[in-house]
Amino acid sequence: MTTTVTQDQYAIDQPEAILSPALVVFRELVEHNIQVMLDIAGSTERLRPHCKTHKMPAVARMQLEQGITKHKCATFAEADMLADAGAKDIFLGYNLVGPNIERAVAFAARYPDVSFSVTGDDASAIKSLGEVISAAGHTIGVLLDIDPGRQRTGVPVGREARELYALIDRTAGLRAEGLHLYDGHQRQQDFGERTAAVNAEWQKVAAFRDELVEAGHPVPRIVCGGTPTFPVYAAIYDPAIELSPGTCVFHDSGYGNAFPDMDRFIPAAVVFTRVISRPTPNRVTFDVGTKAIASDPPMGKRAFFPAIPNGEQVIHNEEHLVIETPDADRWSPGDTAIAIPSHVCPTVALHDQAVVISDDKVVDHWPVTARTRCINV
Ligand SMILES: Cc1ncc(COP(=O)(O)O)c(C=O)c1O
Repeated sequence: MTTTVTQDQYAIDQPEAILSPALVVFRELVEHNIQVMLDIAGSTERLRPHCKTHKMPAVARMQLEQGITKHKCATFAEADMLADAGAKDIFLGYNLVGPNIERAVAFAARYPDVSFSVTGDDASAIKSLGEVISAAGHTIGVLLDIDPGRQRTGVPVGREARELYALIDRTAGLRAEGLHLYDGHQRQQDFGERTAAVNAEWQKVAAFRDELVEAGHPVPRIVCGGTPTFPVYAAIYDPAIELSPGTCVFHDSGYGNAFPDMDRFIPAAVVFTRVISRPTPNRVTFDVGTKAIASDPPMGKRAFFPAIPNGEQVIHNEEHLVIETPDADRWSPGDTAIAIPSHVCPTVALHDQAVVISDDKVVDHWPVTARTRCINV
């Protein structure tokens, strides 16, 4: 990891009181990361953090308390969680199809004081959304999802995108609220190369926005990027840009390893684990299986153990992680350690709650409210 992580940052008084494996959040480190986010963004108005990383009302409230009024999510459960936490401007950056169209009506009815918006990239889905929303007497914002080369969702800038935006703008029940630009494929390790690639895409999107405005359409916002491209968009002066990083509020060892320029963020959510066996002279087995730490990163790279920086992760089963290390004899069953997830967002979603540490002490337990699929609507 390029971020310097010290064991002291993760000191816990009375670790014997914590069941393992446990998601543990260090409150001061979350506060630190939110401050770094604000510093990079330059102002609260430019930020629209994605809540998919934490899924916790407690963290949403910390951001609200810092004056962050705009929020992004990917599921209705996250939207519910944000609204219940007090957010008044919620962008669900996801295309609505099937029963999710009716859920948009239910959400608009349940939270009349929330400004709610979603993405769209398909004419028939956009028309269905407009019909159902206007029949119910509501309006919602729609941002056209632009594909900046990731080829996951969205349409490239050009004729089809222009027609879709015009459709959104003229459809009853819908407000044309701008563009959505998520570019998770921009993973160049070198910050200069990443900046150049993002700027090249941005030029096209900005020119497309200018065309839309000239054609008489409102384009109030362009919601851009995730954590790796956050500082790049933050450095572009354009009043329409809203920055939508998610991961950096907790940070993780995956981004810490991949992006040296992320070194101001400190991993704030870790998995607390215990040794449960010493099966061979060079092996230590921890109770942090794939049901406690995300297994989408490649085998061997799912966690960073500050206490065993050079250990090799050789077996990862549902409730077991086996690490080979020449220092295995320093470990005994019952010993505790912390594992910094390589991918924190799906790791958080594996846990019902987080044990909260402040000033080295357990001070609270925060529910991971939006790990479910359905809360209110
Ligand atoms: C649409 C969208 N926006 C924002 C983000 C946040 O990206 P990151 O996790 O890199 O901060 C993601 C991440 O998956 C995403 O899918």
